[in-house]
Amino acid sequence: MATDVHRPVTPKTADPAPGSPARPTPTLAPVHPAPTPASVPHTRAPAAAPASAPHAVHVEGLTRSFDGRPVIDNLRLDVRPGEFVALLGRSGCGKSTLLRILAGLDRDIEGTVLVPRRKAVAFQAPRLMPWKRVWRNVLLGLPGKPERALAERALKEVGLDHRSGAWPKTLSGGEAQRASLARALVREPDLLLLDEPFGALDALTRIKAQRLVDELWQRRGCAVLLVTHDVEEAVLLADRVLVMDEGVIAYETRIDLERPRDITDPRFAELRARLLERLGVDTVAEAA
Ligand SMILES: Nc1ncnc2c1ncn2[C@@H]1O[C@H](COP(=O)(O)OP(=O)(O)OP(=O)(O)O)[C@@H](O)[C@H]1O
Ligand SMILES: [Mg+2]
Repeated sequence: MATDVHRPVTPKTADPAPGSPARPTPTLAPVHPAPTPASVPHTRAPAAAPASAPHAVHVEGLTRSFDGRPVIDNLRLDVRPGEFVALLGRSGCGKSTLLRILAGLDRDIEGTVLVPRRKAVAFQAPRLMPWKRVWRNVLLGLPGKPERALAERALKEVGLDHRSGAWPKTLSGGEAQRASLARALVREPDLLLLDEPFGALDALTRIKAQRLVDELWQRRGCAVLLVTHDVEEAVLLADRVLVMDEGVIAYETRIDLERPRDITDPRFAELRARLLERLGVDTVAEAA
């Protein structure tokens, strides 16, 4: 059975990421590897992060293999409290695998993974339970007997409080995605993990959803790790963009453009082109 012991470390205030509100460093807890047969070596996660670490996420020496093939191979990653990080990479390079590990959904790992206790994840498919009304979906999995008002506050934040009593099948794609975001927000996360949350939305709904995430991030001040295939979306939203390849973070760049960002700014185009190049996309051919 997977170990799920979370040992807190002393919280310490860190500099907030640029553009984000001040927020204390979250309490980190290790994602422990699942126990394995004695013959398989595992580096156990340490009991706690160094008390001085100003991190919302600290990953070191992380390896995850499937059928003996390492998909994540000695990966290192740090995310600061309140930082918005976007993760790009070709299909199958291991982005979702990394996100699932950070969410604590996959513990068959080697290495050190320290994440805040309060974390939430939203996937590309909203994954709402069809037999539960929207507000009950938002509260799903929360401990105790949370009040409907708690769900409605989160639904209001995403502009969906008027659909609180609706059945999931009556929601549009964009509404279902907002319900999924509300379900993440109700957990008051210090770390919000988003796996292509806008992937299935049409262009206009997608722009609205991007703005909503931007607003929520600015308001909440939590760290965000957004997996996306959309380079423009990454440059629009993130403080830092990472490119994953060969099981590691192969490239990263800071996005120092002021917010709100202007996609017609030549610096925006330059960053976009550089990232596309790192992803192996020929921008000249793309423009032709
Ligand atoms: N449970 C599993 N069992 C076996 N192989 C797996 C499993 N989960 C993921 N993989 C493999 O690991 C690799 C990385 O998968 P992952 O879903 O992390 O990719 P991704 O970067 O998120 O891709 P995409 O951009 O297409 O979503 C793929 O080759 C995938 O087939
Ligand atoms: Mg994926």
